[in-house]
Amino acid sequence: MCIVGGGFQAAPFLFWIDRFAPNQHTERSMKSEAATVLEHRDFGGGYNLLVFDVPAVASEVVPGQFIHLRVPRLEGAVLRRPFSVFKADAQTLSVLYKQVGRGTRAMGEIAAGESVSIVGPLGNGFPQADASAFPVLVAGGYGVAPLYLLASRMPAKGILFVGGRSEIDILCVDAFLELGWEVQVTTEDGSIGSKGLVTGALDRWLSSRGPEVRPEFFACGPDGLLKAVGDRVISGNGQGWLSLDKHMGCGVGACLACVQKIRVDGGSVVWKRVCKDGPIFEAHEIVWPSEDSA
Ligand SMILES: Cc1cc2nc3c(=O)[nH]c(=O)nc-3n(C[C@H](O)[C@H](O)[C@H](O)COP(=O)(O)OP(=O)(O)OC[C@H]3O[C@@H](n4cnc5c(N)ncnc54)[C@H](O)[C@@H]3O)c2cc1C
Ligand code: FES
Repeated sequence: MCIVGGGFQAAPFLFWIDRFAPNQHTERSMKSEAATVLEHRDFGGGYNLLVFDVPAVASEVVPGQFIHLRVPRLEGAVLRRPFSVFKADAQTLSVLYKQVGRGTRAMGEIAAGESVSIVGPLGNGFPQADASAFPVLVAGGYGVAPLYLLASRMPAKGILFVGGRSEIDILCVDAFLELGWEVQVTTEDGSIGSKGLVTGALDRWLSSRGPEVRPEFFACGPDGLLKAVGDRVISGNGQGWLSLDKHMGCGVGACLACVQKIRVDGGSVVWKRVCKDGPIFEAHEIVWPSEDSA
């Protein structure tokens, strides 16, 4: 469901609104700011880093939150584009983005020194990790971005499983190693790390770990990866936090372009907004399309 194509009708969905709990964190700290671009770096393979000077947003970010960016010079585009925060300090924040379409390709023209409109920080962010659990991060492609901010702020060190199609899709491994995390890399073509899917490496690790190691999962990537991680959380009776990547319109809970079916206490299913109630949901909560009989 996407309003980008212009066919989305919000009105029939408005009755859902009163079911949504407000996201206190977002409501307290969200700002619309003019951010100065400090750096724009091309990593190759369509991956880029943008660093902004935007203290009012950067200083409030918690890992897993995102910003909504208005792409300059994008003709006819009214919608912003959402990007997870990759790094943040009191003054600056960075995003790691992949060029996939019109908006992200136009972002390639953004130059250091120019001013870009940003709304954020948005979304709920990851919860604090359980102090008695072992943090297990699972990333696909640019999914490493919010997980890096999470790892950099976690007192405990854990393990990152990162996967992609090829070597060019594997980002930030050194940055995680510098934090003291263990990293396992997989690529579908075997160009770096072990050949196969990231869940193959994860399964090998899960079956070889000692019984005293109780994993808590944090994942970001395409839906297939998130569902596979969620399946392992559920079969292991554990806990896992999955960052959903949905097409967005407003980014602040008003247009309902980003809704997702979520199980709530008592087993009933409600629609929630990924932009405002998420993007992070616990694995047991998510109703994937393949499980959806309604
Ligand atoms: C909470 C959140 C955090 C995100 N964080 C990052 C990030 O850190 N780095 C990054 O590179 N991207 C991130 N994305 C995805 C990013 O927002 C989209 O890739 C971007 O909006 C595409 O814009 P476009 O105009 O280039 O693509 P379009 O021209 O609109 O679409 C091009 C192609 O990308 C697909 N697409 C568009 N939006 C999405 C989306 N949200 N998810 C999956 N596929 C999409 C379209 O179906 C189409 O196939 C995030 C998305 C969300 C919801
Ligand atoms: S993008 Fe508008 S409600 Fe989520």
